Amino acid sequence: MKKKAVTKNVDQSVEDLISSHKPGHSLAQRFYTDPAIYELELEKIVYRNWILAGHASQLPEPGDFKVFNVAGESAIIIRGKDSRLKSFANVCRHRGSLVCIEERGHTKKFQCPYHGWIYDIDGNLTAARNMNEGFDLSTHGLKPVSLGEIHGLIFVSFSDDPPSLEGAIRDLKEPLEMYDFRNLKVAAQKSYAIAANWKLSIENYQECYHCATAHPEYAQMHTRMLDGEKRKRASSHMYERMEDCGIKNITINHVDGAARPGEIGFGIDRAAMFNKYKTGSKGGQPVAPLLGSITGYDGGQADLSFGPFSFLLAYNDHVVCYVFTPVDHKSSNCEIYWLVRGDAEEGKDYKVDELMWLWDITTESDKEIIVNNSKGVHSKYYEPGPFSGMEEAERVYIEWLLAELQRP
Ligand code: FES
Ligand SMILES: [Fe+2]
Repeated sequence: MKKKAVTKNVDQSVEDLISSHKPGHSLAQRFYTDPAIYELELEKIVYRNWILAGHASQLPEPGDFKVFNVAGESAIIIRGKDSRLKSFANVCRHRGSLVCIEERGHTKKFQCPYHGWIYDIDGNLTAARNMNEGFDLSTHGLKPVSLGEIHGLIFVSFSDDPPSLEGAIRDLKEPLEMYDFRNLKVAAQKSYAIAANWKLSIENYQECYHCATAHPEYAQMHTRMLDGEKRKRASSHMYERMEDCGIKNITINHVDGAARPGEIGFGIDRAAMFNKYKTGSKGGQPVAPLLGSITGYDGGQADLSFGPFSFLLAYNDHVVCYVFTPVDHKSSNCEIYWLVRGDAEEGKDYKVDELMWLWDITTESDKEIIVNNSKGVHSKYYEPGPFSGMEEAERVYIEWLLAELQRP
């Protein structure tokens, strides 16, 4: 009885907090500091949605696996005996230990490190020592976790009833085939631990108001750091060359606020780089072979998003995937994947340090500004401040988030 009353109070105060949100302003402090709001976010947002967990090329053979951790959940992603990708909760059906401790690898079976129960690569329990007679192996397999694929990109959801991926697979077919997403490969991957609530990490990614001050390397090449009219003018060279480079200018905006009911939100939009830049690299020169059916450099790149946690930048010669996930209410992770053509050879066609240079340096400085942001947001002097016109995507994200928290 007592417990119920406490829960109700927390719910009510979150509702009050949401209804007192000032439109066009940043969120109230408790959204970044209150563990109860974080728990609500896990339930209503984090575990309900799809999160990019890698590329199919990372797991080419049956038995190839990787572990994917988000907040308190851990999933094993594996290519099964039938060569299909599947995912299981990394939780032993005996007494709940993590089953797989390695981050990635190749295996014929998983043996739980606690009491040694053994599971095959399809998640079936195949051996359990000294269990009582009548114990049924067949009802103690690893629990399935939702896994989906969009043109080679692997997505995981910790919901048994996640949004449909069909709309994204269908509507993004043309642009994703143009880059040949299905046959790309991961040339590099890096995790950035950020000592800040996950929303601060994503909010920072949503806006480029900070780019001019925080990212000299990025700002010198991308017109995203300009506001609307100036950006349009600076983009004309890209529009003139696009077609000659075999690029179709497809813009779709079904991102979460505008997503169709029951479907993952997604979007694609092309943006120009300043004139002398062909790609996102030091000096703007190519760092890998052209992707898919693209025949040249139009001086542009495409921004893509899939659901609320996964954002991609497709240059003509490589793709950078950004995935932001919560670790706990005070810290988050940013995972970056750099993708190149599947047949590109390291050392010959691309060098990993050249490929990573721009977004590694940019993410390291983002880390710093996000952590500074978090420190200030924890102050008793913090109060929600007004967004600039260049923080429109962040405003929309926040409003979507508040609506999701109120969704039954
Ligand atoms: S918890 Fe896995 S075998 Fe006991
Ligand atoms: Fe940034």
